[in-house]
Amino acid sequence: MADNSSNDLASVIKRRGFIWPSFEMYGGVAGMYDYGPLGCALKNNIIEMWRSIYKGREGFVEIDSETVNPREVFKASGHLDNFADLITYCSKCQAPFRADHLVKDFYDNPDVLTPKQLEEAFVKHNIKCPDCGGDLGPVEEFNLMFRTNIGPGNARVGYMRPETAQGIFVNYANLYRYNRDKLPMGVIQTGRSYRNEIAPRQGMIRMREFNQMEVELFVDPEDKDWVRFPEIENGTLDLIPNTTLELTTMTVKEAVEKKVIANRVLAYFVYTTKQLLLSLGIDEKRLRFREHEMDEMAHYAADCWDAEVLLSYGWTEIVGIADRGNWDLSRHAQFSGQDLTHFKKYDEPRETEVERINPNSKALGPMYKGKAKAISEAISALPPSAIVDGKLKVTVDGEEIELGSEFFEVVKRKEKVSGERVIPHVIEPSHGLDRIFYSILEHAYSYDPEKDYVVLKLAPAVAPIKVGVFPLMEKDGLDTMAKEIYEKVHTSRVEAYYDGSGTIGKRYARMDEVGTPWCITVDYDSLENGTVTIRDRDSTEQKRIPASEVPAIVDALLAGKPFAEL
Ligand code: ATP
Ligand code: GLY
Repeated sequence: MADNSSNDLASVIKRRGFIWPSFEMYGGVAGMYDYGPLGCALKNNIIEMWRSIYKGREGFVEIDSETVNPREVFKASGHLDNFADLITYCSKCQAPFRADHLVKDFYDNPDVLTPKQLEEAFVKHNIKCPDCGGDLGPVEEFNLMFRTNIGPGNARVGYMRPETAQGIFVNYANLYRYNRDKLPMGVIQTGRSYRNEIAPRQGMIRMREFNQMEVELFVDPEDKDWVRFPEIENGTLDLIPNTTLELTTMTVKEAVEKKVIANRVLAYFVYTTKQLLLSLGIDEKRLRFREHEMDEMAHYAADCWDAEVLLSYGWTEIVGIADRGNWDLSRHAQFSGQDLTHFKKYDEPRETEVERINPNSKALGPMYKGKAKAISEAISALPPSAIVDGKLKVTVDGEEIELGSEFFEVVKRKEKVSGERVIPHVIEPSHGLDRIFYSILEHAYSYDPEKDYVVLKLAPAVAPIKVGVFPLMEKDGLDTMAKEIYEKVHTSRVEAYYDGSGTIGKRYARMDEVGTPWCITVDYDSLENGTVTIRDRDSTEQKRIPASEVPAIVDALLAGKPFAEL
């Protein structure tokens, strides 16, 4: 980090319009930030690169669902009962703290400690209130969801979504129909999520309103394979499995064969996450994947790997890749009564022994008379799983009738079946957009203390401005020519920036500081021979190129052509 405070990353990103603390004029609110113009451009570029992998390469579909959800959604998803962090208040000044964060110097993974263990840790390690030194109170659960009312009064309680994922699960039936009843089915969504974090003190790492880019992949539970797996199986991953807690490097193929990663779909998307993060400019040496410990796993997860990057805050999760099993669909099916299954058709019909319910006509006739036939048909239509405590409920002519076991029997018989209904499993790469954004900036930041000079070495694809265009002087027609080039090169895809003020050195510095990969300068030779200079940010090398070819050359550089080959 820079020793001159106006050149440290936090100052640069605020001064240059990447990120501003929200509501600063009213004192600000912890954990809330606004994106400025350059921040917005960088954020949109990240989203586009994520889309290009998941929509482009994988062919997934995108939806955009509501951020306020009725209570029922989160009762079913488990968030109402389980989505809590552990809180403690100072008994003297009443300041709130996340209990696990207070003991992080003493435990590798304090996430796994129970409230009682945390209280014991406070005593054992003599941990006091960081603000006033007072004694810490009991450790309790604090649900992180923001509660609201939908409509006036409190007739319908709602919550701000804590993850975008639920919007996809509650639309499963629509999406399955849209996908013409086929699996695998990949769905993506980006948007805001909300968590009332207890004490956000880590900038963009812990925000109360943040952005996610989530991918929900619905797969056949018995076929957790991925057709493109062979394309990436020799790629390597730095992994920390929960069995050894040791860092180990292996190929994706080895990771699956040695059962370090549970299945090929999960492994494929762990590697896809690596591909995306590297293409966004995350430093490979500061990236690893850590498997959640069993008692750290979210309530819905069967397995979970975090993409962690090394930041000034330490190793930090920026993407979570979870195998959510059938948790969400089975819970929503149970709570809504909707069928959220997939019909898995066999290649050939199979003769299978199935259990069916047979109505007992001899008992039904005398008891239900004219209705017996309709009741008998209703019984035959039900699966054995509909029997609860030995009884069945059927609805005939709008009347609900409860039937004891004397009116039916469960029989086994051989039938030819063409398929079966299964609840799909979900593999979920969940990206924290703001954390990725911030990590890209930290990994791109470089500071030369001798020159007191900051360069953001952003990957060209994410850089908010792709090319600066300067006239050497704003006179003698140099400015007219530079403006013409700017007009040609600045498109909705390539953001250019015209700058005619200050020395050329200052203008390069302004562009280097915001990560612009290339700058074009129009000088007096340009007027004579129609060529301009193009300067490369990282090597500071300059070349002359024809002015008429600037847009095509910038396109080629953006497509990956090395500057040295111009
Ligand atoms: P942490 O343990 O750091 O609180 P988490 O395990 O709760 O994170 P997930 O629930 O897996 O995070 O959320 C998925 C992704 O959303 C995370 O990988 C992270 O990048 C992002 N995310 C979660 N909470 C926040 C937050 N408060 N601010 C910014 N990003 C967040
Ligand atoms: N969808 C994963 C999470 O936000 O927790």
